[in-house]
Amino acid sequence: MSKIDVEMLLHMNAADHEISYANNSSLQKQVILKIRPIIEESITDAFKKIVPICMKVADLGCSSGPNTFMAIWHIIDIVHEICQQEQLKLPEFEVLLNDLPENDFNFVFKLFPTKSLHFVHSSYGIHWLSKVPVGLKENKGNIYMARSSPPSVFKAYADQFQKDFTNFLSLRSEEIMPQGGMVLTCVGRKNPNPSKEDYGWEPLSKSLLDLVAEGVVKEADVDSFNIPHYTPCKEEIAEIVKREGSFDMKRLQVFKVNDSAVVSREEQLHNQDLDFNVYLEMGKKTANIMRAVSEPLLCSHFGDAIMDNLFTRLATHFADGHSNLKFDKVITIVVSLTKKGNSL
Ligand SMILES: C[S@@+](CC[C@H](N)C(=O)[O-])C[C@H]1O[C@@H](n2cnc3c(N)ncnc32)[C@H](O)[C@@H]1O
Repeated sequence: MSKIDVEMLLHMNAADHEISYANNSSLQKQVILKIRPIIEESITDAFKKIVPICMKVADLGCSSGPNTFMAIWHIIDIVHEICQQEQLKLPEFEVLLNDLPENDFNFVFKLFPTKSLHFVHSSYGIHWLSKVPVGLKENKGNIYMARSSPPSVFKAYADQFQKDFTNFLSLRSEEIMPQGGMVLTCVGRKNPNPSKEDYGWEPLSKSLLDLVAEGVVKEADVDSFNIPHYTPCKEEIAEIVKREGSFDMKRLQVFKVNDSAVVSREEQLHNQDLDFNVYLEMGKKTANIMRAVSEPLLCSHFGDAIMDNLFTRLATHFADGHSNLKFDKVITIVVSLTKKGNSL
């Protein structure tokens, strides 16, 4: 999938879709709720250096659904609180909500003069790559990095993320004013060694291979499909921020989020005798979260006729390996950055 294809095809399932992102984004909502104190810290620090008349804020990769305005409401609320405490006049707000298509954060914004943004937020956007990495021919039977992938696959993914994230930082450094803040979250991994991790996409590869066995999908189509997404470790984020050089890193944290729609692992352990149907119900919820974010990409490659069958199988695989319902705990990285330089 080329850069142009990804730009056009990458989006979450629309609100009128049966399995919409809007109805399957409670995990991402937990992330936004969890990082509110970090946003508060970043904005409070920025306000010590810049008290804007009009505060310019951007949310990059905002999608459409209940989360779209949530981060922006938090930001406005935090500024309200600061202004009340410090007896400052409340600024006006100029807000940019950004998402694809043709509104790609891999470009500099045409709307804002340089060095004009006070605060940038992006939740669960930067782990999407601008294109499928080159060099994944050997990733046969997998649709993402997997424990069975050869080393060249891990390198190809890591190289593409390094390029995209470096580009992202240098574009934002043109838009954000000195001492302005930026808080980013993405799905991450614990282990610096990428071959040691279970990324959660393997049950989807397995479901596609089931359809190959049935003769519904061609093996070559599975071999040539790879998700344009990357799960970095915190060391990679720190290294890229340092090497790019435009931002000081105030905070870099790793945390886990639960999807409230999926029973947590602790609860499962206390309910060893759960009926298979309960696991199947949980499996469907987990499969729907995955479907809401990956269906447009899968449809473009495999066609939409197999989607119901594919995700029913995925739900069953999740239920079969019920101790492995990946979305009960998703590793998330948050990084809080300040643009270097003296405030204007
Ligand atoms: C998982 S959704 C997260 C949406 C929302 N921020 C939330 O937390 O619920 C990621 C969003 O980032 C968008 N995105 C990914 N790459 C992008 C890019 N290069 N430019 C603009 N948006 C992008 C996707 O289209 C998608 O809507």
